[in-house]
This record gives sequence, structure tokens and C-alpha cells, in this order.
Amino acid sequence: MASRTPYIAANWKMHKTVAEAAEFVDALLPRIAATQHDVVICPPFTALTAVVERRYGTAVKVAAQNMHEEESGAFTGEVSAPMLVELDVEAVVLGHSERRRHFCETDEALARKVPVALAAGLEPILCVGESEEARDAGETEEVLERQLQADLAGIESGQLADVVIAYEPIWAIGTGRTATPEQAQEVCAFIRDVVRMRGAAADELRVLYGGSMKPANAPELLALPDVDGGLIGGAGLDPEEFAAIVEAAG
Ligand code: PGA
Repeated sequence: MASRTPYIAANWKMHKTVAEAAEFVDALLPRIAATQHDVVICPPFTALTAVVERRYGTAVKVAAQNMHEEESGAFTGEVSAPMLVELDVEAVVLGHSERRRHFCETDEALARKVPVALAAGLEPILCVGESEEARDAGETEEVLERQLQADLAGIESGQLADVVIAYEPIWAIGTGRTATPEQAQEVCAFIRDVVRMRGAAADELRVLYGGSMKPANAPELLALPDVDGGLIGGAGLDPEEFAAIVEAAG
């Protein structure tokens, strides 16, 4: 099996002003100075530059939380891939369940966004996950397979492993309810299998778990064979907690 570099990302959502972002990075950097992992911060658009400038010369990568699929146009409020690349942003979160739910993000739009991001040199962090109703109805795998096939439809098999996939069960996001290690392992392995069926180098694919990951549960989740990292919301707002999760990745 290929060895996969752990990938630990803090998704700040709509939190932190520029001043607060700068304070976070200054507190985080000395705590993770020795890490060999991919450490990623996903600030709101307004704080991207502040984080980019502070992380030069460190292992920290910066990701936006969304991106429009067109390069430019009459799309008020949106931001495009070339605009992010110009800021030295390296990655972009796509398809977060909050965007799917509150901002009508569709699988059709994602099928365009993922290849546009890759072509621009941005690493896509594609989020997928089932609702509580789908899980209770025993439809978790069906929902995930549908999302993966739709969202990755425009990606050649040779490029699939360049996408980072975050498994985020909707019922575990911001709720304090974490998937059990068995659930996280089962689904992350399933995601790898779906990508493998597309002929990809699935052993190189990074699959993250997201949903109430904290320093207390991170060691167990990050030790699972098919969980290669985390997408962290709440605990990613605090430099000490986030650094503890980076450390928990080994
Ligand atoms: P949470 O959020 O860690 O606060 O549950 C995770 C996410 O939405 O990415």
C-alpha cells in the first residue's frame, strides 16, 4: 500500500476576521513546526491573504472554502479559480454540506468545479456525506456512491487520486456526535473502493473524516487504516486544539 501523508485541515467556515486569523496562525506555527503532515487552513475569502502571507516558508497550505466554476462573469458574490491562484492559495473545499444545504450547491455544479480546480492547480477537497435519515434508512453507501460518481464525473482516472475526499456525515457536523471508528473506517474504505472501481490509484487517494473531530477522539479516528486525515470545524478554530489534532496524526 502506498504511504499517504496525513492531511489535517481546519475549516473555519464564517469565522475569524483578518486580525483573528493572523493571531491564530502566529499561535499555531510554533506548535506544528516539526510536523511532516499536510496542514491546511481554510479561512473565509477575506482572510486568505493574511494566512497566505504568514505561512510562507512553513508546511501550512491554504484552501478557500468555495469557488465558482467559471473564470469570470456576471456571478455576484462569487470567486473564481484564477482569483484564488493569484493569491497563492493551493486548495479549495468543494461541496461542503453547508453549501449544498444553504446555498443550493448541486452535484452538477460540482462536476464542473472539481476539474476546473485541478486544471487551475488547486487541490480540491471534495466533501461528501449522508444525512441522518439516509443513514437510518440504510442508504449511506448509495448516497455516497451517487455523490462521488456525479461530482467526479469530469475527472480522468489518472487524476482521481489528486482529489482529497472528505467524508462528513451531516449528522456529525457541529453536533458533538462523532461517527464511531467502525462507521468512519467502513465508509472511508468504501469511498476508496468507489474510486478504485474508476481505475484510479486508490491507494494514493487521501480520504479524510470530518464531523466533531476533537483532540480527544482524533487519535482513534486518525489511526484507522482508511482515514488519512481530518476536516475539522469547531476544534480548528483554536490553535492549541488544532495543533493537538495534527500531533494525533502521528
Ligand atoms: P465540526 O465541522 O468539526 O465542527 O463538526 C466539520 C466540518 O463541517 O467540516
